[in-house]
Amino acid sequence: MKVKSRFLIFILLITTHFSYGQGIMADDGATRSDIRIARQSRLGNIPGRKFTSLNGKWNAIIDPYDFGIGSWAAIWKDQKPKGKTDFYEYSFEGGVVFDVPGDFNSQLPELTFFEGTVWYKKTFDYKKNSDKRAYIHFDGVNYAADIFLNSEKIGSHEGGFTPFQFELTDKVKEGNNSIIIRVNNQRIKDGIPALGFDWFNYGGITRDVSLVETPESYIEDYFIQLAKGSEKQIEGWVKLNGSKPGQNVRIQIPEAKIDLKAKTNAEGYVKVNIPAKLTLWSPEYPKLYNVLISSETDKIEEEIGFRNIAVKGTDIFLNGKSIFLKGVSFHEEIPQDKRRAYSESDAKTLLTWAKELGCNFIRLAHYPQNDHIVRMAEKMGLMMWEEIPVYQGIAFGDAKMQSKMDAMLSEMVNRDKNRCGIIIWSMSNETSPGKARNTSIINMAKFTKSIDPTRLIASAFNKIDYNGNTITISDTLSRHLDVISVNQYLGWYNKWPSKPEEVVWKSEFNKPLIMSEFGAEALYGNHGASDIASSWTEEYQEQLYKDQLTMLKNIPFLRGSCPWILVDFRSPRRLHPTLQDGQNGMWNRKGLLSDKGYKKKAWFVMHNYYKNIK
Ligand code: GCU
Repeated sequence: MKVKSRFLIFILLITTHFSYGQGIMADDGATRSDIRIARQSRLGNIPGRKFTSLNGKWNAIIDPYDFGIGSWAAIWKDQKPKGKTDFYEYSFEGGVVFDVPGDFNSQLPELTFFEGTVWYKKTFDYKKNSDKRAYIHFDGVNYAADIFLNSEKIGSHEGGFTPFQFELTDKVKEGNNSIIIRVNNQRIKDGIPALGFDWFNYGGITRDVSLVETPESYIEDYFIQLAKGSEKQIEGWVKLNGSKPGQNVRIQIPEAKIDLKAKTNAEGYVKVNIPAKLTLWSPEYPKLYNVLISSETDKIEEEIGFRNIAVKGTDIFLNGKSIFLKGVSFHEEIPQDKRRAYSESDAKTLLTWAKELGCNFIRLAHYPQNDHIVRMAEKMGLMMWEEIPVYQGIAFGDAKMQSKMDAMLSEMVNRDKNRCGIIIWSMSNETSPGKARNTSIINMAKFTKSIDPTRLIASAFNKIDYNGNTITISDTLSRHLDVISVNQYLGWYNKWPSKPEEVVWKSEFNKPLIMSEFGAEALYGNHGASDIASSWTEEYQEQLYKDQLTMLKNIPFLRGSCPWILVDFRSPRRLHPTLQDGQNGMWNRKGLLSDKGYKKKAWFVMHNYYKNIK
């Protein structure tokens, strides 16, 4: 397809998919529980813009009955007694204070398992200026959020792991302003994820909050990557907002001697198509270039890497060279503190563990993880798999559910489309084969490819066919994916059909396989039999890893492995009082590292495997 027509199709898709309906306003001005994605602005690359951090101490009110959203309490009005007969049965001042970013469950012992509403409040001073526009940007709030500025509703968002933002320009006051947010982390049957998932439901303003300013006419967003299949052609676009057509835009990559000048079209877009002589990004040499984009009124910079990822037959190629993805999965959690990871230092902890294991690839399970992890992983030379939390029991075929999945997919791709470290977008995890599921995921895969043709599409599944010692991959969804990703627990949830060395894997699809999950539980320091699963010994886990690797080495179309999981993590599905510390920790013990970061015996098996893979 000619670049021009693909570019036009892309424009059409990206504009339609990013124009969400307004949040549903209840009669009293608040938003009822069926929150939808409100109209959002689309500023990309917040760290590269003029922003004021709103991180820090926020006042909070814990509202277990969600009473504050009704017209009686109307907490968002933040009223104070004036006359002698006035009184209110809530106040932000003098109450709980939470650190933002950070989940609220880990900040108060009484909230460890809390699933409900917490109201947050932060005040800030603002200097109005007619040629400035103002936005509030959230990197992530789990799960549902209603945002109020000076007690006026400005929008809602649903989804705990993708960024959202609202323009404040016409509403923010000169001087002191107050932001109030109602956050609700209750699991809902039509949520994404839905009611059941195997990770801890940390709620709250779990990621950074920023007040962003732009000129009246500004650089809204851009996509600058190598064209699919090329190592010498940069392709993409720049989008201005608030400008007349024919505005001058300049894209410079000084180190590559690139200096493109162009004018915007009627929709404010400049198409980018630049021949380039570049040092390509790779795990060994994670080269990033300083990219400067300027318009007549705005400018923005970002470190961007250029690489090519492709599949040919059953092999995966990075920059034209066959590569094996030496991976590991992990959740966005710091186990020692039993809390969500949110900061640069948290990212450093998790990514250093992955590098130490010998990885060149990480699976960010089971949701888009925070911006610090993604940007730092890219700088550390780690390729990434990023996925939306379409996880196990999802009601496919429901239009409202589909619009939520599409919104999360758009928000994930929109945030990270310039992160060359991300090589795979994954559409779902362990959803059951079926017409509605296939239709939904095929459409999401097509949509993702239309807005980002440069990356591979996956969707991890676990339904495989056992027949004697032969395992066949037959999930027809595979026809519409670039790589096949199988989660299997032979030796743990499933018995070995034969000796590991005798297991034969067959695939009906001529595509590379990533073993996207395998593993077993072990309690660190618990030693004993290597053949009794219920022992939770390190020796059992170690032997299982040895058996798994014996099998993996015999799969000719295997091009990646992602053991489940880097480090023990918390999940309310894990209730054994001693082996999983049920009432306190609720630990899923499949970590290669313990919840304190100590190496179990299986860690050394995996480390040795990766060290010896060429
Ligand atoms: C599943 C699932 C994981 C889960 C794991 C387990 O495959 O994808 O989210 O944690 O198995 O049971 O430990």
